[in-house]
Amino acid sequence: MTDPNGPLFPLSFVCPDISSKLRPDYVLRPLQLSDYQAGVLEVLKDLTTVGDISEERFNEQFEYMRARQGEYFVVIIEKIATGNVVGVGTLLVERKFIHECGLVGHIEDIAVAKSEQGKKLGIKIISALDFIGKKIGCYKNILDCSPHNEQFYVKCGYSNAGFEMTKRFDK
Ligand code: ACO
Repeated sequence: MTDPNGPLFPLSFVCPDISSKLRPDYVLRPLQLSDYQAGVLEVLKDLTTVGDISEERFNEQFEYMRARQGEYFVVIIEKIATGNVVGVGTLLVERKFIHECGLVGHIEDIAVAKSEQGKKLGIKIISALDFIGKKIGCYKNILDCSPHNEQFYVKCGYSNAGFEMTKRFDK
């Protein structure tokens, strides 16, 4: 049975090599329910609109994701001294028919708190998501980003493979 206070995904998906390369005042770990209070949504506000989300709504979304083991991997970097979330990133695993029912990892919603940017936390979040993608059997990880962030992802080992198309239904 799943521990009601347990993390979003098992700790075995957290790459020990990446954790050991973090400065000792930071920890890399799966999302947990207490991250609402630890400010995960504030960090995501550096990326885009988050909206006014109650703790109850956050918890419901967390439980939805946790019930789908092997699909949602939200990794966190916490600053130990403050207990605050300073970095976050998601890998969503898609099951396909093509490539012999292959799996593709979608990297989404990467954000590092403004005051912590430039300290190599972002690159560690991407490495952690790449580790998970490989471990779970994805044949590739993919992502969309603005031209402004292209060089960051190049430094993370990604290359340009086309361009993003979108159609909005919320406006
Ligand atoms: N353009 C060019 N190079 C960059 C950029 C950039 N925008 N951002 C980082 N880099 C470089 C760094 O200089 C560093 O290079 P070095 O190894 O030669 O010194 C390398 O990339 C790694 O940088 P980090 O310090 O790990 O980057 P950081 O922790 O600041 O995180 C991030 C980068 C996630 C883009 C951060 O700036 C951020 O949160 N920005 C606001 C939100 C955002 O735009 N998120 C990405 C959205 S795309 C998506 O979610 C799929």
